[in-house]
Amino acid sequence: MNIVLIGYMGSGKSLIGSALASILEFDYIDLDDYIENQEKKTISEIFDDKGEIYFRKQEHTYLKDVLQKNDTVISLGGGTPCFAGNMDLIIEAEKVKSIYLQTSLEELTHRLLSERSKRPLIAHLTNEDDLKDFIRKHLFERSFYYNQSDIKVQTDQKTVETIVTE
Ligand code: S3P
Repeated sequence: MNIVLIGYMGSGKSLIGSALASILEFDYIDLDDYIENQEKKTISEIFDDKGEIYFRKQEHTYLKDVLQKNDTVISLGGGTPCFAGNMDLIIEAEKVKSIYLQTSLEELTHRLLSERSKRPLIAHLTNEDDLKDFIRKHLFERSFYYNQSDIKVQTDQKTVETIVTE
């Protein structure tokens, strides 16, 4: 079976995903890294050179690839479940458990303020209040998809070990 980690940017999908994979002795794939390797460009370069629509098309194609793996923990990008019917693909995939890492608006804003540069959708938001407003609206839109996950785990004020155990 495969485990798919879902959550907003900065919710810890990559950190938790690799820790979970090593405990379960599963393989680990970070979809953003997979896309960068396949496209031979960083996510920012793909957005800059070809735009978001191209990125979303490629993201959809590579998601289908990685869902074919077995015994793999897959961390998605924050937007992956929200485009191109991807959440339906995940729900309908055989032997896939999806886990939503839910993080508060305050915590996401705090984390993302210092981790914006590699994230083209928020790289320009230098002001904390502007960033928080953006995340609030975005989370509101995206929660519809995130909430379709099989399992939800709150991540605020928890260690990696606790989250992985949960
Ligand atoms: C995105 C999240 C990013 C990356 C791209 C778009 C999004 O992944 O896929 O910048 O739409 O939320 P992370 O959630 O790993 O930052």
